[in-house]
Amino acid sequence: MENMIFDTHAHYDDEAFDTDREELLASIQEQGVGRIVNVSANLSEIERTLELTRRYPFIYGAAGVHPDDTSELNEENFSQIRDAALQDKMLAIGEIGLDYYWDKTERKIQQKWFLRQLELAGELDKPVIIHSREAAQDTLDLIKSAGGADFSMVMHCFSYGKEMAREYLNMGYYLGIGGVVTFKNAKKLKEVVSYMPLDRILLETDAPYLTPVPFRGKRNSSEKIRYVAEEVARLKEISEAEVLKAAWENACRFYRVEN
Ligand code: NI
Repeated sequence: MENMIFDTHAHYDDEAFDTDREELLASIQEQGVGRIVNVSANLSEIERTLELTRRYPFIYGAAGVHPDDTSELNEENFSQIRDAALQDKMLAIGEIGLDYYWDKTERKIQQKWFLRQLELAGELDKPVIIHSREAAQDTLDLIKSAGGADFSMVMHCFSYGKEMAREYLNMGYYLGIGGVVTFKNAKKLKEVVSYMPLDRILLETDAPYLTPVPFRGKRNSSEKIRYVAEEVARLKEISEAEVLKAAWENACRFYRVEN
C-alpha cells in the first residue's frame, strides 16, 4: 500500500513512546503512513514537538497549550507559543480549547488563554486544532465571538452530536475522527460521520490514546488509522481507499501543505 495515511493529530513525544520511539518512527512509513502532525499540549511538549519535526521529514507540528495546562501560561512565556508557531514545519495552533470534564484549571483561566491563542492564530493566519470536552456551548460561543468563520479549524476528537456538528460545518470547519468511531457504543459519533460530508473529515489517532477496535486498550500509533478509515467507509458506504484518499486531500487543504 502507498503512504496514504495522514495522521492529523498524534503525540509521539508522549512518554508512552519512550522505550521504542526511534524504532517505531523509523518503520512507520513502511506501514502506509505518509505524514503525521505532532500536536503539543503545553510548553515543554512544544519543544519536544519542534525536535521531532527537525528529526523526521514526515513529521510536522502544531504549537499550543491545552486547556488543562493553561495555568502554566503568563504574559512572559506566552511568546514561546508564537515563536514556535513561526518555525519551519509548524503548521497550526493547537491543541487549544476548553475542558470541563477534567476541570484541571479554573474555567475563567481556560477561557482567557483559549481566546488569546485564537487571537494568535488569527494574527499568524494559522489553522487551529480545537480540544473541547463537556464544554460544547462555551466553546461555540467563544469561537463565534473571536471571529467564527474567519478561522480555519478542526474540532479534534469530535464528541458532540449532529446539531453541534452542523454549527461547525456551517462555519467551514473540519471534524477530527479517530478510534472512538470504531467503538460499539459510539452511536452518536457514527451518526455524525454518516451525516457529515466526506470532504470535512480529518483522520486522527491522538496516539498513544484512543486506540481503535480491535486494539482498544493498547497503545495507539498512526498505522492503526486504517481501522478508523474502515469504519468510516462502512458508514458512508464507500471503499476504505476512497476514505483514505479524501482524508489525505482534506488534511493537505486544512494544514496548507502540498498534496
Ligand atoms: Ni490530542
